[in-house]
Amino acid sequence: MGKRYDFPIPFGWYAVSLARDLAVGEVKPLHYFGRELVLFRSESGEAKLLDAYCPHLGAHLGHGGKVKGEHLACPFHGWEFSGEGVCKHIPYAKNMPPRADGKQTVHAYPVQESSGVVWAWYHPDLVAPSFELDTVPEVGDAGWTDFRVYEWTVNTVIQEAAENAADAAHFVYVHTAQDIPRGEITHEGHKRFARYVGKTADMDENGNIDTTGTRWRETVLETSNCGPGMTRQRFMGLCDTIQMGLVTPIDDQSMHLRFCFIQPQGLNPLQEFIAQALTDEISRQVEQDIPIWNNKIFQPNPILCDGDGPIAQFRRWFSQFYAKPSGEDALKIRAVS
Ligand code: FES
Ligand SMILES: [Fe+2]
Repeated sequence: MGKRYDFPIPFGWYAVSLARDLAVGEVKPLHYFGRELVLFRSESGEAKLLDAYCPHLGAHLGHGGKVKGEHLACPFHGWEFSGEGVCKHIPYAKNMPPRADGKQTVHAYPVQESSGVVWAWYHPDLVAPSFELDTVPEVGDAGWTDFRVYEWTVNTVIQEAAENAADAAHFVYVHTAQDIPRGEITHEGHKRFARYVGKTADMDENGNIDTTGTRWRETVLETSNCGPGMTRQRFMGLCDTIQMGLVTPIDDQSMHLRFCFIQPQGLNPLQEFIAQALTDEISRQVEQDIPIWNNKIFQPNPILCDGDGPIAQFRRWFSQFYAKPSGEDALKIRAVS
């Protein structure tokens, strides 16, 4: 059987670790972007990401590699590489081989650490970052909690999962929403914004949800995407909640999805209960999507109806993250427009 999806991996900034999960001196093997990788944090605290295989005799730097100051030492013969992928020291050589001397011999990914996340820039043609990441200033702020994290491996590609946000009708049929949400959606370059205003049953000070259907509270959901790998959502109404949706391609057929939530500090036990119920519910909803994502195909030329959301608009926006916009893949991706 051929591949289920025929998309290239989109370029962009992707979460490769939560910052809190990478201690100084730690070395981790990773598999993202269809590649073997090694992530490490140097002694000065910088996170670095390299392709994993040593250019000497091919050892995997993520399995047994050691941090030495700012370098990563290979477990096989001790060659040391900088975070920029340059061989800096060979412990038993009198002279540096000319092919290695001062040259990058292992691909180093641009890395940035912000909003509690270690991000790496992926581009299939190794092109430098073409946009900046948004930051979420509430992450790490004393007034907000640490991340509460939920995560999944999903057999789909980012475009397909992200299309969910534009697919208004599925909220009723998959997530049992009462109405099809209609938001204001805008696209600006690599960013996409959406705002939804709704209502939910009110709650009194004892936590009792109104069941009479007479008292309502306004809820607002604001969403912003920064490229294909980062979504920030803010839920306002019952419990102020910020969610970072982090999605990273494992390869061109599957992805790692993380939801990281923060909420205000100092909630009373009842508010705590509601806060956790809210993040559990958002995560339960994605678990309703996953069986569909795991088994569907991409319809390049779908039959759409007037009740569907702005799917063609979404696909046009997303197509900017493919490196070959005039290629065959892009034509398929744009077929709906
Ligand atoms: S394989 Fe890495 S130093 Fe030899
Ligand atoms: Fe969904």
